Amino acid sequence: MLVFGATGDLSHRKLLPALKRLDDDGRRAGSPILGLARGAMPEAQFRSEAAAALVEAGFEKAAAEKWANETLYYESLGKSTAADYARVEARVRAIEAERKLPGNRVIYLALPLPALTPTVNALGEAGLHKARGWTRLVVEKPFGTDLSSAEALNELVHTYFKESDVYRLDHYLGKETVQNLLVFRFANALWEPLWNRDRVEKVEITVAEEIGIEGRGSFYEKAGAVRDFIQNHITQLLCLIAMEPPAALEADLIANEKIKVLRAMRPVEAEDAVFGQYTAGPNSKGEMEPAYRDEEGVAKDSNVETYAAMRLSIDNWRWQGVPFFVRTGKRLPRKVSRIVVSFRCPPVSVFHPFDSCLLHSNRLEITLQPNEGINLAFGVKKPGTGMEIEPQQLKFRYADAFGPLREAYETLLIDVLRGERTLFVRADEIEAAWALYDPLLKNPPKVREYKGGTWGPKEADALVNVGPRPGWTNL
Ligand code: BG6
Repeated sequence: MLVFGATGDLSHRKLLPALKRLDDDGRRAGSPILGLARGAMPEAQFRSEAAAALVEAGFEKAAAEKWANETLYYESLGKSTAADYARVEARVRAIEAERKLPGNRVIYLALPLPALTPTVNALGEAGLHKARGWTRLVVEKPFGTDLSSAEALNELVHTYFKESDVYRLDHYLGKETVQNLLVFRFANALWEPLWNRDRVEKVEITVAEEIGIEGRGSFYEKAGAVRDFIQNHITQLLCLIAMEPPAALEADLIANEKIKVLRAMRPVEAEDAVFGQYTAGPNSKGEMEPAYRDEEGVAKDSNVETYAAMRLSIDNWRWQGVPFFVRTGKRLPRKVSRIVVSFRCPPVSVFHPFDSCLLHSNRLEITLQPNEGINLAFGVKKPGTGMEIEPQQLKFRYADAFGPLREAYETLLIDVLRGERTLFVRADEIEAAWALYDPLLKNPPKVREYKGGTWGPKEADALVNVGPRPGWTNL
């Protein structure tokens, strides 16, 4: 495995810990990992920094050092000249020979967006993709910044790689709870008759984060909530909720169904969206956190959105007229990712106060993280005289049934090694997702302030102004 961006945050916090855990569990064969980055440093330093990151991720020091010494290699990309890449290529061949490997390669790009194009160009020119065995390319999100840049990136990638060898990674797809959306919908016949415009009143998808931008100011200034979260993670969740059953559980068949949803959606315009940016405010421990504009790497007059809420519409037979409300934001009161499907009210009520919607509480709440699980809410008769109705819930918690869940990166890395693309995003899917948000990105709504530690700008509540019970469902 060749990891570009091997000294970066993603590699240290997610990738290397996941690779070590896979080796520890015998799910990976301990094959070598060549770290690549611009800086020159001795291999020993790369190994010891990686081991320190593993300790930070919870591994025991001696085991982390042993693994780093046995598994990791390092080569600097220098100034990324042809000669530098030729040196890297020679090193890869040397390691393959030394370890008697069949020459199968995973090229993992854990890189910031501006580095993607030059890196794909350079590695292609150097022939790094021409292995004796197979070569697979993994590209982290965000894949492009809008439709035209994503198209250009796809074209470049396809110069050197077949689409079937490209793994566009959106780590939300590796989460057990996200994969479960397919099982929940298509392995249980109970929901299907309810899963449409006749029975569903609205769907809400919230991915709230308590953290701010965590020192990633210069990245976030070029991204914002739509590019960082909505175009990828949230759009993928929406597709899994809205898509038709695939003919079989195969990557292309699933991608085809997701694309049908995306193509049936109306591109989002400014009037369907509310953007926000956090000001200073307390975190959940009561400590003050700075405003976005006071974070390192952020312009004092930045207009980048750290919060976005939208009303989305899917114009197909199943969903026409059902609003999909989505929102995400940094520095909200707590971390919670939840999908809420609200079902329509009973047509009439025979119970006091005779307003069928006041009593109605049929809601499915799928919590993706934390405290993963599913709740189904309904009204029950409160014991006692009379017919008082109270909302209650059936609850399923992953932790109670299965214990701790596996990290998304472990699942995704194993799938890359197995050549299984179901949990990755196809070229045309990425482009269809960008096409949805292009009008909004070109002509964004005004960015409203919200105090850090609150649920975002109040204008976002007014967006959810439909049905007998307007407003976001309490989380
Ligand atoms: C990343 C975003 O894709 O997902 C980050 O770039 C965000 O901004 C992170 O914090 C959240 O991931 P998770 O798995 O903690 O919900």
